[in-house]
Amino acid sequence: MTVDEPLTWIGTSWKMNGSLAFARAYATGLRARAAAGWPGIQPFLIPPATALAVVSEVLRPASGIIVGAQNAHWEQRGAWTGELSVEQVADAGATLVEIGHSERRAWFGDTDEVVHRKVLATLRAGLRPLVCVGESAEDFAAGRSVEVVTAQVSSALAGVAPGEGQAPLVAYEPIWAIGEHGREATPEDIVATVGAIADHVGDRVGSVLYGGSVNRENLTDILGVPGVGGVFVGRAAWTLTGYLALLDLAADQLAGRLNVG
Ligand code: 13P
Repeated sequence: MTVDEPLTWIGTSWKMNGSLAFARAYATGLRARAAAGWPGIQPFLIPPATALAVVSEVLRPASGIIVGAQNAHWEQRGAWTGELSVEQVADAGATLVEIGHSERRAWFGDTDEVVHRKVLATLRAGLRPLVCVGESAEDFAAGRSVEVVTAQVSSALAGVAPGEGQAPLVAYEPIWAIGEHGREATPEDIVATVGAIADHVGDRVGSVLYGGSVNRENLTDILGVPGVGGVFVGRAAWTLTGYLALLDLAADQLAGRLNVG
């Protein structure tokens, strides 16, 4: 691999799952395996906020695994009951902030405007935003995927210039593909939309990831889609064994591709 070969991002959000004991055990097991590393892969782990500090303490400093928060507020402090600022999640060890997941857009008022504010706050604090975008089943069926997600990306990254802080990541997560009721996407389902996002963001973004029912069976196909720079996984990585299997598979795929190429 050449030094400027881009890393393939393989990460998971635990969403609203996991006790501190679970978090400690998972992170400890991951750290043990990270010693050998996954060449070409950038792992990232996004636990619930309660476990951020524990996971960060177990994984830092040398594991190479990035720890992220599932959300953060756009203000630095103040009377915002129940919220956490970017500065607070950074204090607990996060260097990545997930913003605008469809579950937050659907249930917690994360509009495009809110997403944009959170992106700016994250960059200002020196952390890396992971911006999630995705269209509904209805928009997908109507052929509006590109239109919907490029509008979400434009709004989220408005005014963000290349080289301003840590390059944001964009995760394309079609709503119809996420969660236990989601339908697994085929490469044909997503290739045009991923390509459109990549063209649209140009060098303002570090990488475009795909998320939504990614698992051991479809990982290789998804990572083979042009423009996909990694995956963002829920259920399939909610056990350490599941996450390690995905990391190993991705590393093997990458090694094969590099050897062949
Ligand atoms: P699933 O992999 O469980 O579909 O969740 C994907 C996701 O929403 C990651 O943020």
